[in-house]
Amino acid sequence: MKVLRTIQELRSALDQEASPTAFVPTMGALHDGHLALVKEAASGHVAVVMSIFVNPLQFNDKQDYEGYPDTLDEDIRQAEAAGVTHLFLPDLHELYPAGPEGMSTFIHVTKGVEVLCGAHRPGHFDGVATVVMKLLQIVSPDWAYFGRKDAQQAAVIENMVSDYHVPVKIITVQTVRETDGLAMSSRNVRLRPEERKDAPNIYYALQTMKNVYEEEPFSPESGRTMLQKFVKGTVEYAEVRTYPGLELPAENYRGTLLLACAVQYDQARLIDNIMWTRKEEDHVS
Ligand code: PAJ
Repeated sequence: MKVLRTIQELRSALDQEASPTAFVPTMGALHDGHLALVKEAASGHVAVVMSIFVNPLQFNDKQDYEGYPDTLDEDIRQAEAAGVTHLFLPDLHELYPAGPEGMSTFIHVTKGVEVLCGAHRPGHFDGVATVVMKLLQIVSPDWAYFGRKDAQQAAVIENMVSDYHVPVKIITVQTVRETDGLAMSSRNVRLRPEERKDAPNIYYALQTMKNVYEEEPFSPESGRTMLQKFVKGTVEYAEVRTYPGLELPAENYRGTLLLACAVQYDQARLIDNIMWTRKEEDHVS
């Protein structure tokens, strides 16, 4: 595995590759969720680029940014073992020479961001879209891999790539969970022991709520109240949306549904979701 710290180094290393390129952008503190993306990316005969860059533009909270877990030595080991061929580790100056706020062009996301996490994290998806656009320009991958755990992020990126005719195929990968159901996240390490015990209830509740919804659809407000009964953390939202449109589904909607939530614990805000597809022949009472 080659470790590359500048855009120039990465580009010249990729120029020497005959094989197509798969790309997995991350912010590090790697866990099996990130590695599942790598394993899927590495399943063909391709160069697998992973980036690790904690992007200040997408953080609403300075403390969250400054305290973002950093496990670089372990990340390097895990990335290589999972099949990364090129690890891109730019520093802040490499990606934002004039500082993040010194950029003269930002991507502003206009659809699908007034709801779910977007409603609670102003500017977050602009920051994500801007850095992902930068990374896609730098890496020029044939495929880019994103986790469904961040379903709204995946939807935003798919829309951006389509709007800007970026020649990349976006692949989304199933959420990887701990054995007790908790979705893996770099922020799980910030849970207190009693919160860690409570957090698996999120996934259990989502499954129960999905069944309730298919019997009797509930509003975003009722969803929030319902999830709050299952967990001790504070529920920010819990609602059903169409995917990838992120609209409130019509009663007779057929297609993919997303039940997504965010729960705030003392030092960690966790998100999770489940998706399912209603087909034409499915009976919905
Ligand atoms: P990060 O949170 O490090 O996540 C990197 C990728 O791993 C994302 O596509 C995310 O959806 C995926 N991922 C995280 N946890 C997962 C899990 N339990 N199962 C499956 N996939 C999982 O998302 C970001 O970084 C950033 O916003 C980024 C896209 C890198 C832009 O800065």
